Formats: sequence, structure tokens, C-alpha cells
Amino acid sequence: MGDEFPVLGRGIAPGKVILFGEHSVVYGRPAIAAPVTRVWAEAIVTPGEPGVGITIHAPDLNRRFGLAQAPPDEPLAFVVRLTLEALDLSSPPDWTITIRSTIPIAAGMGSGTAVSAAMARAIAAAADRALPNPVLSDLVYQVERLHHGSPSGVDNTVVSYAAPVYFIRGQPPQLLRIARPFWLVIADTGVPSSTREAVMAVRRAWEADRVRFEALFDRIAAIVERARAAIEGGDVDALGPLMDENHALLREMGVSSPELERLVTAARAHGAAGAKLVGAGRGGNMIALVERERTNAVAEALRSAGATRCIITQVRQEAANAYE
Ligand code: MEV
Repeated sequence: MGDEFPVLGRGIAPGKVILFGEHSVVYGRPAIAAPVTRVWAEAIVTPGEPGVGITIHAPDLNRRFGLAQAPPDEPLAFVVRLTLEALDLSSPPDWTITIRSTIPIAAGMGSGTAVSAAMARAIAAAADRALPNPVLSDLVYQVERLHHGSPSGVDNTVVSYAAPVYFIRGQPPQLLRIARPFWLVIADTGVPSSTREAVMAVRRAWEADRVRFEALFDRIAAIVERARAAIEGGDVDALGPLMDENHALLREMGVSSPELERLVTAARAHGAAGAKLVGAGRGGNMIALVERERTNAVAEALRSAGATRCIITQVRQEAANAYE
């Protein structure tokens, strides 16, 4: 990409997993999330046709269109417009913005979020302007709102900072210290997961029985606090049972699925220390906490149990600097 033309700006952003606290984070409880740098979205700005303004090109999606022609709610165009505004660039330059991503789509790994962050970073680089992480994160949050009504803000935060975070809605994120790195196997059910629909389903269930759901959220919040202490204290052994407990509560909330259950069960049966669904659920991915030596065996078992894709990744501190 960008071989034929000079690259004016490049932006990259990682995938993410929510280690603890998805859904309850929408209701003001804490969550812990980490970037997954094994997969990423990338945007590159190259010179476009003179007088044409900005062209957005997503070869993987077979899409190429002019910013000026895009409707106001077109998500990629929305990112570009917001970024131009944030950077005070009133007249769009003649640029082509090309986007690629290796992050599984609709799978709870933040693919749309990372595409937005990568595009904004690429535009800022091409314009030679700074786009500090908090500003980038706010900008990506505006785009998230277009996709699903009331996002908590955890996804844009972890993807924009590209760092492990402890997050409470409406508060500045706290960067987490990972005292001892640990390994995850991330496995995809192959069933698309719609964040909007899953969040709406939880909302309906919460409206129908607020007492029960508030209690579930509180139990998850307690797990998140214990997980934070374990992560920062290097007590990796404590994390597996906490993942299992978090998964059980997510299942009670109605966001698991037969496919997710099959993968979670297979991971545990093959030596994972703990396992849970990640992100919105009802499809998408699950994660298993696995000792390094067993990662390939667990990934193999997950593929046999129906996983369409497995990613083996290490959660570690250095990810914090991966995209700065
Ligand atoms: C989706 O990745 C995470 C959810 O908690 C929604 C949100 O936080 O906005 C399900």
C-alpha cells in the first residue's frame, strides 16, 4: 500500500479485548480492557486527484467514494469530517485515504473502533498536527455513538490509548500496570455479534427486572476490582477463576450463546485456567487464559470445537507504547 505514491500520513490502531466487565460498564461499573496488537487497522493518506478533495478507499470492502458525496451518517466519512473539524482543517485537501484491517469484523474485537482511530491518526499525521490520545478517544467515541446508541466509552479508550486500561464511564481512564504478562487464546465462534443489538437486549432485560440486573452488575464490578488487584499484583493464577465467574454472570445476563458455551467448555477441558466471552457476546469471540506452553494445544482444541479463527496473544505492558 502506498508504493506508487508518497505516503503523507499513516495511522495504526490495535484490536482489543475486554478482560472483565463488558455490559455492566454501560451501567457505570468498572471494566478492564487490553489492546490486541496481533491484529490492527491501518490507514494511509496519499495524494489524491487535484480538485477532488478527499477520497476514501477501503479495498477489502470493495468501496471507494468521495467525502463530498457521502451521506452525513456514513461512518468512514463521519470519522474524516470529525477529524478535519478537530484539527481545524476547513477545506479538505486532495487526499486518498486507504484503509485496511486484519481485525475480525463484528466479533467483539473493536474492528470499527480501530478503523476510526487509524483514520484519525493518519489524517493528523498527514496534516502534521498532534492528536493527543484523549482527543482521539473522544473523537472515536462520537463515531461509536453512531454505531450503537449509548456506548460506555471503553472500546474507544483502549483502542486510542493502545494500552491496558481500567475504565469507568465518564471518568478519565486509568492505565493499568501489568505486573506479570499473561497469555490469551482468542477464539471466534464465526457467528456475527452486533454490539447494538446485544446492548439493547440487555437494556430490555434490565428494564424488565432492574433489581436482578443491578445485582448482577454489582457482582461483576466486584470481580473487576479483584482482577485489577491480581493484574497489578502479578497474581496471574487468580485471573482464571475470575474469568469463569465473569462468564457465568454474562451467561445469566443472556449474552452467551451455544457456540460461545461450546468454546468456553472446550478451553477449560483442555487446560485453560479460565475462559469467558468477550465484548457484546451472543456470538463473536471468547478468550481463554492459558499457560504459554499450552496455547497451541488449547487453540487446536478450540478449532476442533468449531472456532473459525484463533489468535494467540500476550497481554503485557509494552503494548502501551506500540502505537505512540
Ligand atoms: C462492547 O465491546 C462492550 C459493551 O460493554 C458495550 C459498551 O461498553 O459500550 C458490550
